[in-house]
Amino acid sequence: MESISKTLFLLLCISLSLVFPIESYETFLDCLLHQVPNSNLSQLVYTQNDPSFTTLLDTSIQNLRFISPNITKPLLILKPTNDQEVQASIICCKNHSLPLRVRSGGHDYEGLSYRSISSTQFVMMDLSSLRDIHIDQYQRIAWVQSGTTLGELYYAISQQSGTLAFPGGTCPTVCVGGLFSGGGFGIMTRKFGLSADNIIDAILIDANGRVLNRETMGEDLFWAIRGGGGGSFGIVISWKIRLVQIPRIVSVFTLTKTLIEGAISLVDKWQRVAPNFSEDVLLKFAIEPDMNGGEPVAVFKGFYLGRCYGLLTYMHIHFPELGLKKDDCEEMSWIQSVVYFAGYGHAKPETVLLDRTSEPKEYNKGTSDFITDLIPYKIWEEIFDRFQYEGAGVIYFETKGGRMNTISESALPFPHRKGILYSIQCLVFWPENAEVSEEKYLGWLNEMRSFLTPYVSKNPRRAYVNFRDLDLGMNEEGNTNYENARDWGEKYFMGNFKRLALVKGKVDPENFFWHEQSIPPLLSIPVAES
Ligand SMILES: Cc1cc2nc3c(=O)[nH]c(=O)nc-3n(C[C@H](O)[C@H](O)[C@H](O)COP(=O)(O)OP(=O)(O)OC[C@H]3O[C@@H](n4cnc5c(N)ncnc54)[C@H](O)[C@@H]3O)c2cc1C
Ligand SMILES: *[C@@H]1O[C@H](CO)[C@@H](O)[C@H](O)[C@H]1NC(C)=O
Ligand SMILES: *[C@@H]1O[C@H](CO)[C@@H](O)[C@H](O)[C@H]1NC(C)=O
Ligand SMILES: *[C@@H]1O[C@H](CO)[C@@H](O)[C@H](O)[C@H]1NC(C)=O
Ligand SMILES: *[C@@H]1O[C@H](CO)[C@@H](O)[C@H](O)[C@H]1NC(C)=O
Repeated sequence: MESISKTLFLLLCISLSLVFPIESYETFLDCLLHQVPNSNLSQLVYTQNDPSFTTLLDTSIQNLRFISPNITKPLLILKPTNDQEVQASIICCKNHSLPLRVRSGGHDYEGLSYRSISSTQFVMMDLSSLRDIHIDQYQRIAWVQSGTTLGELYYAISQQSGTLAFPGGTCPTVCVGGLFSGGGFGIMTRKFGLSADNIIDAILIDANGRVLNRETMGEDLFWAIRGGGGGSFGIVISWKIRLVQIPRIVSVFTLTKTLIEGAISLVDKWQRVAPNFSEDVLLKFAIEPDMNGGEPVAVFKGFYLGRCYGLLTYMHIHFPELGLKKDDCEEMSWIQSVVYFAGYGHAKPETVLLDRTSEPKEYNKGTSDFITDLIPYKIWEEIFDRFQYEGAGVIYFETKGGRMNTISESALPFPHRKGILYSIQCLVFWPENAEVSEEKYLGWLNEMRSFLTPYVSKNPRRAYVNFRDLDLGMNEEGNTNYENARDWGEKYFMGNFKRLALVKGKVDPENFFWHEQSIPPLLSIPVAES
């Protein structure tokens, strides 16, 4: 073992000598060997010269904007397979003053889990090998590791029980590591709250390499990691979640409405009624451009924790104008509804949820907003008009209310609770060799963003940290300053931002876990308190 490790060690040293000062690389590997003597370092450490480096890096780059050759690549990729290797990696990176980024599913909208905007060298830890799931269906709890995709988690739960589920996001290749860290909302949020509202314990390794659980990390840090955004407080290895009980049969529908079919009056009515629907009913919609250059459409999607007759009755009373008919509604198991809302329709078996790669990949950019006041009818008309511009994207309108109204703004770092009618996500995406230029797509998005300014939340204009957006502002290279970060930090976290910064000041005062939008450490309450 010893001699194999030594040989390997030398091989790795040689392969890295081009990009890394050889002495510090030697001592870095020495450090790892010392920390995890039984590990096979050639499966843990990947240098830029390693033949599998690019595949490993690119597999979880979900946004082609960040795959371009001019993006600063990590100096090394570390791919731990157990807690000890995560711990050793943190200790040795810190010891060598190597900045560390952590990636679970790589869906970060700005790619901050695997790219650095500053020119500094960094190491990337890829958690895709940490994906164990342990479900106790009798206690209705589960432990799930950060590198697990939502698809894998949902599928595993459904294999254990037809009446247990977990509330989270809709994209099956997003990993729990990032999603839970920023809150996590989706189809069942109105009924059960955020993913983060259903987390009851976690295992985290902090900047000093200490392995902590809820009890040993304390309630402040446990609060911060359930919504304060990933990559600021440590590396969460696994999460203990409370499963929720659902009926064996749920109902879904999709209704597409054109302008001639009254899309505008329907969305206007939607915003008045849907946020106040029973928690068992979700009705959301998206505005999508017509790909053939025709008029945009409103695509309504409904979900109900019960059978179709219940949903039909409910909609006929509360939103008869939508015209939901018996034939529009389909009954299925919850896991089938996950496949349905993931966009696969009926064409795919449930095992499609185990597919970790989302293909084809696209270039994309998104923004988020939260709505507290009704958007005027005339403005809806203008919003639809804007979908006839070149480069038009999609806007998702995600209904909130229900359970979200009953949870205090400071219960977790995610503050967008009572009084939020719905969230908006504007998204532009384009394939490789798109006919329309990148500038057109980004231009459409920016114009939509400024057009919406008067109609979305203000002071601050709220945003969702899981739809990370560097246009809101970012940390300067080097040390972060709390006051400078408040501008974007309070958009994500409102009054919770200061508490997050104070927790950060306590657990990582040296700011080892840094990225362009990580929480800055606040060591004490500023004197000029506002
Ligand atoms: C197509 C698509 C659909 C989406 N749908 C939804 C949705 O329905 N609902 C919703 O709420 N969100 C949704 N999101 C947003 C998603 O929740 C975030 O992008 C999330 O951060 C992605 O997590 P990840 O692990 O895949 O990404 P990563 O890029 O791996 O991580 C995101 C951030 O978390 C940090 N991080 C990752 N793992 C850990 C860890 N173990 N410990 C500490 N920090 C960590 C990273 O450093 C990075 O800062 C969607 C995103 C996309 C691209
Ligand atoms: C270490 O991993 C490499 C690459 O997977 C493999 O070729 C080698 O046999 C492993 N060595 C040991 C001692 O397991
Ligand atoms: C990297 O390349 C992309 C597209 O080729 C370009 O838009 C971007 O400005 C470049 N970034 C840097 C930092 O040069
Ligand atoms: C790194 O580890 C070595 C050996 O244990 C120790 O002497 C040194 O002080 C450490 N450096 C830092 C920056 O932690
Ligand atoms: C929401 O519904 C409740 C009862 O279901 C009702 O009392 C309340 O007035 C409604 N609010 C709005 C804004 O319609």
